[in-house]
Amino acid sequence: MSIGVPELETKRLVLRHWLDEDLESWVALNQDPEVMEFFPAPLSREEALTLATKIQSNLERSDRGLWAVEVKGGERFIGFVGLSVQDLGLEFTPCTEVGWRLKRSAWGQGYATEAAKAALRYGLDELDLEVIYSFTAATNLRSQAVMERIGMHPRPELAFIHPRLDPESPLAPHITFATRPTASL
Ligand SMILES: CC(C)(COP(=O)(O)OP(=O)(O)OC[C@H]1O[C@@H](n2cnc3c(N)ncnc32)[C@H](O)[C@@H]1OP(=O)(O)O)[C@@H](O)C(=O)NCCC(=O)NCCS
Repeated sequence: MSIGVPELETKRLVLRHWLDEDLESWVALNQDPEVMEFFPAPLSREEALTLATKIQSNLERSDRGLWAVEVKGGERFIGFVGLSVQDLGLEFTPCTEVGWRLKRSAWGQGYATEAAKAALRYGLDELDLEVIYSFTAATNLRSQAVMERIGMHPRPELAFIHPRLDPESPLAPHITFATRPTASL
């Protein structure tokens, strides 16, 4: 890719910029209740397309972003994994977060872990970031398992109630992991 964030390659995956042909699959995954279990609601077609445009624009204009994930010799688009800047008005934000959202049929094969390790390497080695965070709903155990598998450290002191969610919602309590085990290292 000539502009913006470079494409990454792992053993089984290509992390690349988004293509128009990804969009139907992207719309569908954002309407799958299982994929969207830990979000306030599935995304409408329009919301999903708007988000895809924003994600691709970040990949072109910034040094970090959410790559479209393609399986080598397999599915052309299984979702995104990557780095995004998060500003939630918390003590540790603005920060760079590693995150993921894959279609249901792509779960259970280690793809999120493989792609996220490459994203962390890019952030720590190429961008020289001191620390990368990841957070998710406290009940999203699959996402937390990815954080553990990629070697991130739980940071219970950075747990928070998501400021953009109803504080009474069961989705509001969030846990935080980081590439560093403590603030001072
Ligand atoms: C979070 C999410 C990406 C995790 O997907 P996942 O499939 O559980 O995670 P991985 O891709 O790392 O795969 C790990 C699983 O594949 C298995 N696996 C199979 N082959 C593997 C391999 N070669 N390497 C590693 N793991 C492998 C692991 O044993 C593990 O199985 P398990 O779930 O039965 O324990 C997925 O659930 C998702 O997209 N959820 C919806 C979006 C979301 O909640 N995002 C986070 C919001 S903050």
